[in-house]
Formats: sequence, structure tokens, C-alpha cells
Amino acid sequence: MPPKNGRDETRLIRAGHNTRPAVKTVGPAIQKGSTVLLPDAASLYDEANHLTYGRQGLSAQFALQAALAELEHAQGVTLYPSGLSALTGALLAVLKTGDEVLVTDTIYKPTRRFCDHLLKRFGIRVRYFDPCQPPEALVGEASDAVRLILMESPGSLSFEVQDMARVAELARARGILTVSDNTWGAGYLYKPLDHGIDIAVQALTKYVGGHSDVFMGSAAANDRKLVRALEDGVIHLGWAVTGEDAYEMLRGLRTLPTRLAKHGQSSLAIANWLQGRPEVARVYYPALPGSPGHELWARDYTGACGLFAFALRPGPERAVNAFLDDLTLFGLGFSWGGFESLAISCDHQLKTRTLRPSYGGPLIRLHIGLENPEDLMADLQRALGVYAQQAGMA
Ligand SMILES: Cc1ncc(COP(=O)(O)O)c(C=O)c1O
Repeated sequence: MPPKNGRDETRLIRAGHNTRPAVKTVGPAIQKGSTVLLPDAASLYDEANHLTYGRQGLSAQFALQAALAELEHAQGVTLYPSGLSALTGALLAVLKTGDEVLVTDTIYKPTRRFCDHLLKRFGIRVRYFDPCQPPEALVGEASDAVRLILMESPGSLSFEVQDMARVAELARARGILTVSDNTWGAGYLYKPLDHGIDIAVQALTKYVGGHSDVFMGSAAANDRKLVRALEDGVIHLGWAVTGEDAYEMLRGLRTLPTRLAKHGQSSLAIANWLQGRPEVARVYYPALPGSPGHELWARDYTGACGLFAFALRPGPERAVNAFLDDLTLFGLGFSWGGFESLAISCDHQLKTRTLRPSYGGPLIRLHIGLENPEDLMADLQRALGVYAQQAGMA
């Protein structure tokens, strides 16, 4: 309470506190605060029973963590300011100098940059593996120094599907941890922890946020010691997310299943149509029968999202750029998972990989948004005509 006889400078510091108890709303209260006020002196250092600092999260962050734990079937979920920091955070939480890490060659490029620069600088060896390699060979050939296997399935840009459950089973028998970047599965289409993977990471920035306007990442685990290690990692590295951003993520989570169903339906229709186009060499969408990895996808996933790739029949880069520039309903942009359709060319990024299989021609990645799929197909059809002309096919 403001002191009755204080002067304005003093009274204004305390004014307006606790005028009314918060009412219950559909979403959680958004608390803003770096300082947490403790009830008495004894509580100041009683961290077992009291939250003492705002960086640890407040009402909206806790609500989001609880909801994500339900989504991921997890005992604990830690939050990070981006998907990339969730990946780097999960790795830094459990690795130490002298360890070796096996990383899928199709990993998201900035994660690879972190492995090649930071992990190596701290004396952690990184080896890239072919996600199509049988799990028995991958785990069987791992040296005794291997501490962790990092997977991303379907793989970034080219959508190889890996038998992550089998890798997890074999790795566990050898005391090797498994981590999955499950941004494509969003914790809804695929639940890594249910398949025996130790840590499930996702960029919430994509489908959970769903509106291309908030960055955040999460790491989920079931093993108590691992949850503790992840929490300690967040504390040691000082990561924090704001209450507003946590609120937005929670709001996105409410409509995640509904949006994913529509992304998946439209994508399947468009992928199927693309497969029949003369300008297209091959479609890479695990939900599409005949696409690489379809059987594994059908075994493990309950659906598919809106992200997939297709290879154009071979043509020059200027024809690929003319195709992209002719699209009117697809934005040219990298971060996906929102309501809008997007397209990028992939060949520049593929050059950073160790293995360079042929995908049949210039690879294009599409994100199919919530627009009408017929309109999107009409847009693609016109732009494919431009490609055919420029590539000398017409
Ligand atoms: C597969 C995958 N993982 C992680 C990330 C990183 O997410 P953020 O942009 O939130 O750091 C991305 C971003 O594109 C991604 O595609």
C-alpha cells in the first residue's frame, strides 16, 4: 500500500498495486516482471519453495510449458528464445569435451553451423551420417566416444525419413542419447518421446506459433535427470522468453490440430498434382504414396504438415528464378509454418552437405498455407509454364 503521508515520488512507486484480484480469462494472465517480490526475508534464499527471479518464467511461460508437456507426452519442457537456441541448448545441456556427436547430414543448416563452429571449438567431434543408412549400421559403427545422435526427420529441404524409433532403441542399448528436431511433426503429427527418443526439440516459431511472427523453441524429455539437465542448461546460459511471446505460442497451440489438418490436406492434393506435371521430375513429400520414406511415415506419423519439396526437370538457375519470380500466391521466404504459402530454391543450401545425392533436378521447397489449394495450383501451373519456356522445354 502507498504510504499515506509520503510525497508523490514515493507514493507513485507503490501506487496501483493489487487493486483487484485477477479474474479468470480463457488465456493465462501475462505477468511482466524481472523482479519477483518475496513475501519475507526468509524466502529470499529459499529457492526450493519460491520463484525468486523473473527470468525463470512467470504465469504465461508456466502455462505454455504445462501445455507443451501434454502435447509432447513429456515430464518436463524447457523454453528457449528460438528454435535454433532450443537445439543448441539441448546439445550444450548434455555434451562435454571429448564427446562425439553423430548428426544427420540433412540437418537444418544453422544447426550444422553451430556443430561445425561451436561444438568443435569446445573439443566435441561431429560426424555427419546418411539418414537413409540402416539404423543397425549407424549405431553399430558408432565409436565408444559417441554420446549423442541428432536426427531431423523428415530432413530439412529434401525430406528423407529415418527410422528414429529403431535408432533410439539401438542407441539406448549402448548408452547413447538421441535428440530429434521434430519441427516438421510439431509434437502433434509425431511424438518423439513415445518412440523412445530422449529429447524432442521443436521450433515453436513454425506450426505452434502458426502466424510467422514469434520466435521460440522447446525441448521436451521424460527422464528426470535429463529434464534437470535441460533446466540447468537454460539457467546457466541465461535464456528467457517473454510472457507475451509465451501467450502467443499458447494461443497458437489451441488451433494447431485444425491448422495442421488443412495444411496436410492441401499439401497432399498439390503434391499429387505436381507429380503428374511434365515440368516436375519428382516430388518429395512423405505423405504421398510412392514418395521416398512413405512407408516409414505411414508407420509412425498421424498426418503430414504443409512443407515438402519437388525437383524440377533439369534447367538453368535463371529458369528456376523465373519460376519463383512468377509466383504470386507464394512468398519467397525461409521461415515456414504460418498461414501463408512460401517457396524457396534449395540448391545453394544443399551444397553445404557432405553427401550430395541427385534429387533429379533443381529442388524447390514449398510451404502450403491455408489458402484455397485450387488457387495455389493455378499459380504453380502458370509459373511452371514460365519455367518450361525458360528451360527450353516448351
Ligand atoms: C527444421 C528446423 N529446425 C529449427 C529451425 C530454427 O527455428 P528458429 O527460426 O525458431 O530458430 C528451423 C527454422 O527454419 C527449421 O526449419
